[in-house]
Amino acid sequence: EKAGFDHFMLKEIHDQPKAYRDTMLGRISDDGRSVDLPELNITPEQLKGINRVHIVACGTALHAGLVGKSVIESLVRIPVETDVASEYRYRSPIITKDTLVIVVSQSGETADTLAALREAQRCGARVLAITNVVGSSVAREADDVIITLAGPEIAVASTKAYSSQLIAFYLFGLYWARTIGAQDEATVAHILAAMQALPEQVERILSQSDTIKEVAESISHHSSLFFIGRGIDYAVAMEGSLKLKEISYIHSEAYAAGELKHGTLALIEEGTPVIALLTQEDLYEKMLSNIKETKARGAHVLGIMNEGHEEEIAKSVDRQFAIPRTLPLLTPALSVIPLQLISYYASLALGHDVDKPRNLAKSVTVE
Ligand code: M6R
Repeated sequence: EKAGFDHFMLKEIHDQPKAYRDTMLGRISDDGRSVDLPELNITPEQLKGINRVHIVACGTALHAGLVGKSVIESLVRIPVETDVASEYRYRSPIITKDTLVIVVSQSGETADTLAALREAQRCGARVLAITNVVGSSVAREADDVIITLAGPEIAVASTKAYSSQLIAFYLFGLYWARTIGAQDEATVAHILAAMQALPEQVERILSQSDTIKEVAESISHHSSLFFIGRGIDYAVAMEGSLKLKEISYIHSEAYAAGELKHGTLALIEEGTPVIALLTQEDLYEKMLSNIKETKARGAHVLGIMNEGHEEEIAKSVDRQFAIPRTLPLLTPALSVIPLQLISYYASLALGHDVDKPRNLAKSVTVE
């Protein structure tokens, strides 16, 4: 069952190259120039009529949705709001018939997400579900479904479901962008080529697990830490922070790096670990100044950045981990991997039940 791994979580982290390939399989044309999603019922005409998007989910699935927001806004140029499912349905969201509501759920059984889906449909919106389970409640009730092909996820901490949800967002974003003419064919082909390189790039990251294990073990001695990032890296920081809390029980916060100086810097003391994501080249220099702010208070910083920055970042951070180069929009599919491994090895070092963390269930079927 665990295919030789000590825990389901570790197996599922290692399943990710296959999960990416399977989720892309048959959805990219043979010439690599277009996305085909024959499972969608929504017609090109209907898609052209959509003028706003709400992405609604819980926990890790919501974090995938935060990346999804950037994907849709940058490729399709339509405004996207994201919301926690348990908040969404009680705040009278402004939903019109031209709103597309996207619900994201690994299990397809999360009660809050299902209730949000029903509320959206009641208000006249069309609902697209991104889910890992064929025949789940969410899959049955949504108007359109994109199945992620991550395979069964057993560990309570979600890993391959999250990253496959990212792949689903990329595919849908590209399909939609082409349908309404928001991107040209060459741009789409370029992004698809980069996506097809992701599985092998994930394998390269996984082959460096030992380096990450050491970082995780040193972090496990601390009671609190920070994940910081800007833009899409901030969304990934939130996922890294949730994963660590969930299975290692170490307190952490994810912060938009530019926001630290508005209060939270006060919590950084001598030795506080900070995990800084710097995969967005246009925000790289800004991130370096934010790192400097934390170092000035004694932070011990791990920088996660693109390959090529190794030498020059060494003077700004205490440790570093480089991820293979990809397009800026695709970095979450790589940068989340070291964060998953950090939480796994920290939990392991602390002797916790990695696959079944305390107080949590795999599928939350109560509201
Ligand atoms: O099955 P779902 O994707 O709807 O589950 C949503 C959350 O309960 C889930 O992602 C939770 O946050 C994970 N245990 C996080 O690892």
